[in-house]
Amino acid sequence: MRILTLESTCDETSAAVITERLEVLGSVVASQDDLHGRFGGVVPEIASRAHVERILPVIDEALRRAGVGLKDIDAVAVANTPGLAGSLLVGLVAAKTLCVVLDLPLIAVNHLQAHIYACRLAARRNVFPCVGLIVSGGHSSLYRCGGPIEFELIGATTDDAAGEAFDKVASMIGLPYPGGPEIQRAAEGGDPRAYRFPRALLADEDRLDFSFSGVKTAVRYKIVGPGRADFSEIQLEPQQVADLAASFQEAVVDCLVGKAVLALKKTGMQTLCVGGGVAANARLRQRLTEEVERAGAELHIAPLELCTDNAVMGAIAVERFDAGLLEDLDLDILPGLVRR
Ligand code: KG4
Ligand code: ZN
Repeated sequence: MRILTLESTCDETSAAVITERLEVLGSVVASQDDLHGRFGGVVPEIASRAHVERILPVIDEALRRAGVGLKDIDAVAVANTPGLAGSLLVGLVAAKTLCVVLDLPLIAVNHLQAHIYACRLAARRNVFPCVGLIVSGGHSSLYRCGGPIEFELIGATTDDAAGEAFDKVASMIGLPYPGGPEIQRAAEGGDPRAYRFPRALLADEDRLDFSFSGVKTAVRYKIVGPGRADFSEIQLEPQQVADLAASFQEAVVDCLVGKAVLALKKTGMQTLCVGGGVAANARLRQRLTEEVERAGAELHIAPLELCTDNAVMGAIAVERFDAGLLEDLDLDILPGLVRR
């Protein structure tokens, strides 16, 4: 069986062809970073228009790389939640159209479950039950994952996502978008103890939630002074940029690692799976490796190419297909975070 998976939840247009044995026959990710860069973040309207232009060529290219044609596809899967409404609609309409024209079954993919499933794909064996940590541009959340499609939200950010904070802080210190990889690079030459930024909620052992808006504001005030917003006059020295990047990154990593380990303790689970764009962060990967080992648990972090958005992780559709979970053509988008 061959499944065509589509992913257009945010600003990557992606398609892949995957077999029921989780083999990836072909995959394409068309990034829109070049379109959003000058705005310092994803502009939803630009993202959806770019998806409209790219979705068909991306599907064609994924099929070409897989060496198959549309007639060889047995089902179509699409990420319909959560994400930007306009972006989600493009993938969903493309998937439904293919299903109508080719008379194929339609499978819904939860984008967040798919981020964790990237760990299952890389491990090539069962990784469930586990605690799932998803850290991306839009989400920072912890889940109790009973199985690949059995998720219960146990912690979330009360304001900004970790990736969003990386992107905004990068723009404050003069680094381009997307800011995560840039901050990581700048931090290599910096001192993580140069500035002491807040670790919101970290000391509260009753909660598994995150909050990253405070650290963002703390960086801003460190640069321009308390209560001021104007960056136009500020010229940072390269060492200041490196120290700000390293100190900010350390604060965010402390919170993510602290709450993930607390989640293992609270749930009694033995495995942590980590996915999402920020999971590509080298310092986060290093600290998770150390702390999860110290906690005596097993760690799976999605491989770098499966951290940021991609359709390969849509292979989770195989699990839903096996569970008999097929969709009608009235399937809709669900832009908001689904609690279960
Ligand atoms: O999962 P993703 O591709 O899109 C969403 O679903 O949001 O994540 C994108 C986010 C961006 O905020 C980007 O800055 C961040 O992941 N990111 C990183 C790194 N690589 C990407 N953040 C920190 N360190 C990185 N190396
Ligand atoms: Zn994502």
